[in-house]
Amino acid sequence: MKRDNFGSKLGVVAAAAGSAIGLGNIWKFPYITGVNGGAAFILVYLLCIFLIGIPVMLSEFALGRKNQVNAVETFKKLKPNSKWHLAGYLSVLTAFIILSFYSMIAGWVFSYILRSITGSFNSIPVEKLSEHFTTLISNPWEPLAFTLLVLVITAIVVFSGIQSGIEKFSKIVMPLLVVLILILMVRSFTLQGAYKGIEFLFKPDFSQLKLKGVLEALGHSFYTLSLGMAIILTYGSYIKKDVNLVSLSIQVALADTLIALMAGMVIFPAVFAYGLEPTYGPGLIFVTLPAVFKSMPFGNFFEFLFFILIAIAAITSTVSLMEAVVAFVSEKFKLTRGKSTVIILVLLYLLAIPSILSLGPLAGFKIGGKVFFDAMDFITSNIFLPIGGIVVCIFVGWIWGADKAVEEITSDGVYNFKFRYIYSILVRYIAPIAILFIFLYSLGIIKI
Ligand code: PHE
Repeated sequence: MKRDNFGSKLGVVAAAAGSAIGLGNIWKFPYITGVNGGAAFILVYLLCIFLIGIPVMLSEFALGRKNQVNAVETFKKLKPNSKWHLAGYLSVLTAFIILSFYSMIAGWVFSYILRSITGSFNSIPVEKLSEHFTTLISNPWEPLAFTLLVLVITAIVVFSGIQSGIEKFSKIVMPLLVVLILILMVRSFTLQGAYKGIEFLFKPDFSQLKLKGVLEALGHSFYTLSLGMAIILTYGSYIKKDVNLVSLSIQVALADTLIALMAGMVIFPAVFAYGLEPTYGPGLIFVTLPAVFKSMPFGNFFEFLFFILIAIAAITSTVSLMEAVVAFVSEKFKLTRGKSTVIILVLLYLLAIPSILSLGPLAGFKIGGKVFFDAMDFITSNIFLPIGGIVVCIFVGWIWGADKAVEEITSDGVYNFKFRYIYSILVRYIAPIAILFIFLYSLGIIKI
């Protein structure tokens, strides 16, 4: 079976940036910045993106492009008769589990789009917004329906293939995402008192930054670039030799960072302008922002744009997660793309259901003291992802060899790669040690 490829360089950037830019940028980045004191946290985060994120991304792209197969086969091809391919299985499994609950959160976003259309927030007093959100996510019917919708839209894009599905879709919706975020930024900046939000984002106060914040920045830099779970590797396997992987990685990382910062510039000026708290946490966009939009002229309209923006960001990420799994299943079991997409869609939904119910009727069922959704999130984000990251670094740095990776990164010497020595050191030593550190910390083995 001939493998599909990305057709244009722009398409590759749009698809990879689409994967990277997601709920992590618009939902998570602003609230962890809020909780960790703002600008100082952002500085550390930027360092992590450059020192850890970009080298690992380059390594994954190189692995993928060199072998032109799915994650499991990649390891088998480079190191036959070894156990390294188990890392491939782990990363596909991670993508699968993450997608099962990521699509639930994306489903909440669709619920909010619906509410902004019907204007149903208008009749809810500000102090009841938090309760409204809790009721929405715990009453399972609506989340069950919207999670399915998210998965079906994702499956349609994946089913349509790399060039006419993922690439085409990303090339249309990513520019739209940029336009929407720019409109919202202008709106936020022109609110009275907006400057306090900008100050919060850009004036560092290091006294607010704790070591916990540093580790969170490191963990997030990894997650936001979609690393450690075979996504970038799988996309790499559809990239042609004439793409400069260094520029590609830098462009994707910059786009991702820029959108995260812009999301912050949409959210914080508005939060400060209306005298709300920046430290609300995970409910920031679901509780604090509807409060902002309520007080704003044409609030419903801007609310609609905002949730459409998040929906676009989320779907281009769910597409990449599903693609990593579909690529593996279709190649492993020699199934057509259509069949494997449908099978995975069904299995994913089956795994999403307990996550959805765990916020309502199944709240009493706990795994290690956590409800099902939290348990899935914990296992993937805190255990599987760091393991996946460390394995990629060790495999590329020591087993395949950093020099071989550099050969692939430069397209066999066609492109210049000035930082090759720094890259080797980062990927062999600094990145795996740093990731190991977050890993031990999140398991409570290192205490700070
Ligand atoms: N990078 C995406 C985000 O920031 C999340 C994601 C993680 C997507 C892993 C795909 C794979 O939201």
